[in-house]
Amino acid sequence: MCGIVGYVGRSYSKNLVLDGMQKLEYRGYDSAGIVFVEEKTSRLSYLKKIGKVADLAKGLDGLSGDGFVCMGHTRWATHGIVDEANAHPHFNCKGDIALIHNGIIEGYEVVRKELALKGHKFLSQTDSEVLVHYFSSVFELYKSVKPSILDLVKKFKGAYSLAILMQDIPDQLIVVRHNSPLVLGKQEKGFFVASDIVAFAGKVEEFAFMPEDSIAIINKKSIELFNFSGEVLLPAWQKSSFVFDIVNKDGFEHFMLKEIYEQKKVIERIVNFYRLVGTDSKLSAHNDLGNYFDYQLDIEYQDRIWQQLGITIDQVKNLKNINLVAAGTSWHACKIAQFFFEYICKIQTNVYLSSEFCYMPFFEQKDSIYIFVSQSGETADTLQALRRVNSYNIPTIVITNVASSTMVQEAGGFLPMQAGVEVSVASTKAFSAQQVILFILANRIALEQNKITPELMKHAEEDLFIAAQVLELSIENYKWEISQKLAEQYSVYKKFIFLGRHISYPFAMEAALKLKEISYIFAQSYPAGELKHGPIALVDNNTPVVIFSSLDDIIYKKIVSNAQEIKARHGHLVIFAFEGQTELADLAEQAFIVPRVNPFLGPLAMSGLMQFFVYEITKKLGNPIDKPRNLAKAVTVE
Ligand code: M6R
Repeated sequence: MCGIVGYVGRSYSKNLVLDGMQKLEYRGYDSAGIVFVEEKTSRLSYLKKIGKVADLAKGLDGLSGDGFVCMGHTRWATHGIVDEANAHPHFNCKGDIALIHNGIIEGYEVVRKELALKGHKFLSQTDSEVLVHYFSSVFELYKSVKPSILDLVKKFKGAYSLAILMQDIPDQLIVVRHNSPLVLGKQEKGFFVASDIVAFAGKVEEFAFMPEDSIAIINKKSIELFNFSGEVLLPAWQKSSFVFDIVNKDGFEHFMLKEIYEQKKVIERIVNFYRLVGTDSKLSAHNDLGNYFDYQLDIEYQDRIWQQLGITIDQVKNLKNINLVAAGTSWHACKIAQFFFEYICKIQTNVYLSSEFCYMPFFEQKDSIYIFVSQSGETADTLQALRRVNSYNIPTIVITNVASSTMVQEAGGFLPMQAGVEVSVASTKAFSAQQVILFILANRIALEQNKITPELMKHAEEDLFIAAQVLELSIENYKWEISQKLAEQYSVYKKFIFLGRHISYPFAMEAALKLKEISYIFAQSYPAGELKHGPIALVDNNTPVVIFSSLDDIIYKKIVSNAQEIKARHGHLVIFAFEGQTELADLAEQAFIVPRVNPFLGPLAMSGLMQFFVYEITKKLGNPIDKPRNLAKAVTVE
């Protein structure tokens, strides 16, 4: 999604900002722009381009000059099509104030009309442009920055972070945070601001997250920070040890493929990381997966894991309700984890889609906990849900891959996912990591509640190692057949149906999402038992029906019956089954057989093979696998 980078200081700034923008590319964007106060002319100089930051950088070669204050933006279109007019920065009528903006402004149309009636000319279809015209009009009134920006934040609702650069006050940036993150960075020669610390990792000595609803006026020597009432705040500076590891493809054709293959290592790493929690060792999440957040889990005794989560052992022992909230792939991982919590801990578990959560009635439950699962830790829907629960006195925990994310700052407790940087928009290793952590957490809660023995806990950990091996082995077993034959054969279909039952149903949902988002082939998932209630009308020989089996004997028999119903209607069956499930496999046009694992880990064991199958189909179609059209890695708008 959109990204902001700004610099004010004694160094030439254009390339510092461009470099930061390149580091934010992983978020996904469709156009980019940069603006600075040109040293010699003292005028705003800017460039906008559709496409990559690299294209913008090339264009900048032709734009002479540099300056000491600069801001850049990567845009993921929300209001208005992808074109240069809609790309940021936007300007006031005189062209002497520039603004960049992340997020969405609610009700901006009314203000736009009012300003247009007063003679303001708008050049874009964006909500963002309204902000700069409004700021300009109030600045004419107040003739001072602070009252003008306080007026602006009172006027506009929604979720936004923004930065403003004024030609007539050339050594300052004004930045605002409201429901959209911004972080400040300090170095000897100046200050950075960005929507993600990654933008200036390695370049600053200290950083400070801007508090929610705050404004900073940054100049070369100092930062004035205040809240929306104008009261002065002190930035909470922290020493920065973040390093930005260049994450490269390590010889793989795409990041997605690299990340699929990293999964075995990720699973092993997570088990090792969390199994030590409970001994007297100090843990450091080591950096061998290119994880730019070297997270230190300082846990010395058994119960410290609960301290890390912000809950007491008594709360764990009395836990009667578990609530999981997430979006997309993370939601699928939670739907799988519901089986862990309900079967292993025997605790009733609700799973919520974060985009729906805030708009449903909320029932406060005693002895409950809310777990928010998010790869990025920035997903706006999930963040809003977290804020809603935080307004009650209920423990909140976030499981995320990004230790510096907004969710970590706002949740009561945090468990690091330890998956390493995930670059591909289509989530793969994060999905596996989430399943692993939630499985471990379920077992730890069950242990605390005396529902399993320490021996069973150990078995659970060993089972994860086995599942990790099976995940990788299954890809190896079918690698040749898929890439040389099956990918071509299945890439011609225009639609797919994905089925599962019980724990394999959320996995079928994930498979359908994976296929949709990168291949653009229409894919629908259903619980296999629901087919006969309507969707079976869709079954024909031109629509592969992909069924994921289960290791539960009763569920397996039901799945066999569902497969027979499809076969009887000349459906084209693709089956993912476990060793020994020949009755099911024999019904299929194409069967993938996976070694048996702990039944709760069936989806995990099949993850790599499913993802590889989808990846290879998409490769045949020639789509941009790592950055599918219309999608962004971190979805920071609601
Ligand atoms: O960062 P999050 O886990 O909160 O992201 C949630 C979804 O946006 C994400 O899983 C999305 O569905 C992926 N593109 C799926 O591959």
